[in-house]
Amino acid sequence: MKKAKSSKGKEKKLQHKQRLAEIAKSQAIIDDANKAPNPMQHFTAFQKFDRNGLSLSIECKRVSELSRDDLDWAFRLTKSNMQDLYELGGWKWHDGKTKGEMEDENCWFLIARKAGCPVAFVNFRYELGDEDVEICYCNEIQLEEHCRSKGLGKFLLQILELLCHKAKMRKIVCTVLKANDRSMNFFQNKMKYSADSTCPSQCDLLNADDYCYEILSKLLIV
Ligand SMILES: CC(C)(COP(=O)(O)OP(=O)(O)OC[C@H]1O[C@@H](n2cnc3c(N)ncnc32)[C@H](O)[C@@H]1OP(=O)(O)O)[C@@H](O)C(=O)NCCC(=O)NCCS
Repeated sequence: MKKAKSSKGKEKKLQHKQRLAEIAKSQAIIDDANKAPNPMQHFTAFQKFDRNGLSLSIECKRVSELSRDDLDWAFRLTKSNMQDLYELGGWKWHDGKTKGEMEDENCWFLIARKAGCPVAFVNFRYELGDEDVEICYCNEIQLEEHCRSKGLGKFLLQILELLCHKAKMRKIVCTVLKANDRSMNFFQNKMKYSADSTCPSQCDLLNADDYCYEILSKLLIV
């Protein structure tokens, strides 16, 4: 009886050890991804967007490599695009919270510029997801109005997929407000994202109608 108990204990200890080793492996993948000096170096074809009347250059930078002016522009654009949608969903808009999330030291920006001036960006970070595996969290994708519906959003997310694939992330995750019809259509129908296992709609214990957002994800083949 005593023996059976101790072998069960040993098994649990071993499982715990294996789990910690897997988490350490995932964290090492994340650390490597964050060390990349210039993630877009090998993707020269994606450093330009020349379509539908737009002629843009695209670069990938750490938050620490962007100027204060670029960061302030990114925040202003996010606020003007999103504040009403937040409030429509019953959320409160907090300047400081949004700024803090976008300017977290682990964040990266994919940024599109027209003659040096920023016009669109994706803000993302590599992290341990809720299931303790390496994921990319796409925190924001924001385009100035005159750049929308020209294929730029799709192009930027395709670059993100390439970067994440190279960095060996398992999936890209994002949160989309249900009231944001255009973005829902964009992520689900165009970019083929679907409800993540962490989305309220996927949890039997939650009533999805109580939530104004969906957590969407796209698995990457590593
Ligand atoms: C949502 C957003 C990122 C999409 O980028 P975009 O460059 O406008 O989209 P694309 O031109 O690449 O279009 C890709 C697809 O998105 C969908 N889409 C684009 N514009 C749309 C619109 N006005 N209405 C509905 N769907 C639209 C379509 O499915 C389109 O495919 P199609 O052109 O083959 O029909 C961009 O419009 C945006 O920045 N919006 C404001 C900020 C925002 O809501 N960000 C998302 C927060 S989660």
